[in-house]
Amino acid sequence: METVTIHLKSALDRTYNILIEPGLIRKISKDLKTQEIGNRYLVVTDTNVADLIGNDFIESLRAEGLQCDLFVIPAGEESKRWETVLRISDRMTTLGLDRGSAVIALGGGVVGDIAGFSAAIYMRGIPYIQVPTTLLAQIDSSVGGKTGIDTEHGKNLLGAFHQPARVYIDPDLLNTLPEAEIKNGLAEMIKYAVIKDPELFETLENSRDQVMRLEMSLITSLIARCCEIKGEVVEQDEKEGGLRRILNFGHTVGHGIEAASDFAIPHGAAVSIGMAAAAKLSRIEGFISEDVEQKIVDLLRLYRLPVEIPSSIKWNTVFHHMKSDKKFVGGIPFFVLVKRIGEVFVFNKLRLEKIEAVLSDSNFSKKSR
Ligand SMILES: NC(=O)c1ccc[n+]([C@@H]2O[C@H](COP(=O)([O-])OP(=O)(O)OC[C@H]3O[C@@H](n4cnc5c(N)ncnc54)[C@H](O)[C@@H]3O)[C@@H](O)[C@H]2O)c1
Ligand SMILES: [Zn+2]
Repeated sequence: METVTIHLKSALDRTYNILIEPGLIRKISKDLKTQEIGNRYLVVTDTNVADLIGNDFIESLRAEGLQCDLFVIPAGEESKRWETVLRISDRMTTLGLDRGSAVIALGGGVVGDIAGFSAAIYMRGIPYIQVPTTLLAQIDSSVGGKTGIDTEHGKNLLGAFHQPARVYIDPDLLNTLPEAEIKNGLAEMIKYAVIKDPELFETLENSRDQVMRLEMSLITSLIARCCEIKGEVVEQDEKEGGLRRILNFGHTVGHGIEAASDFAIPHGAAVSIGMAAAAKLSRIEGFISEDVEQKIVDLLRLYRLPVEIPSSIKWNTVFHHMKSDKKFVGGIPFFVLVKRIGEVFVFNKLRLEKIEAVLSDSNFSKKSR
């Protein structure tokens, strides 16, 4: 037998910067000019964001002499599918984009995921830049390099790890974001506080009004802190072999709720209910006291996020969907539980009956039994 060894030790430095500043959108072109990311750009955005800032953005890039074009996809999760990737890549080909070109994702998580995925597979991978415009995208989806699309069988089933080359965050853009979308981001913000940062938890407890008013200096520092937390986790476990799972806090039950409601319940609301369930399970398993559970539930309530399964969905449908989730490896739930505020861990010894008991508890899913 002959053995040929292919040595592939990667020493590629994929370090990148996340720049965060109110008003940054108008300065991106100048900064981009100093970076050697692409010789030309395709800006991918959605219909809503295009109406708000699409043309201004393109013009600001062109004013700096950067060669760029705009590609607009319909707003909404339905765009996150294969046909859209093909349309984007067709445009890239007809425009003559090559391996020296780059993609700019200007929008929420939908645009970020699909533009990032298109960049990951176009000519086996070209760079991309994130310009997230929703709170969720600014603190979560634009950082960490997960890209992907949905199929008819489920969300994010096709994807690739592809880190952005640079991330530009302008918190001013949140001023046009509908309140329901802000809430999706706030649920993730509370998640970061519970999993990693008691100080952030306290700030959120004490500054609700400023947060809700989108007071720019506070929001800017909160966004930066969340990006830092996500970055720290991703640096240690880029491909979710272990630690990165803690970012799924609240998401096991949360995904079950989203699926059970046929995605009528927004992600943030579902995750909020999921975090309340996880806090309850942590208390039942003896990891936290009732006080700590209550503190978590109170913070969610403070931001008007739900903490119980609404009567419109049945707890056993949630349970059923949860069990078919990819976090149930071989039928064993990898459940993120709380040790204290600021520290969580992945628990794989949780008995399914315990989860069932929490979900079916009349205090948790009032009229759906
Ligand atoms: N890659 C990751 O790590 C990761 C993490 C979390 C979520 N996600 C994905 O992100 C997606 C959800 O992202 P999202 O919540 O940003 O949703 P989204 O991209 O659908 O944006 C929400 C809505 O806000 C609009 N919008 C965006 N910016 C706006 C602005 N500045 N002003 C007014 N309206 C604006 C959009 O057009 C859309 O209608 C999901 O597909 C999810 O799977 C990915
Ligand atoms: Zn989430």
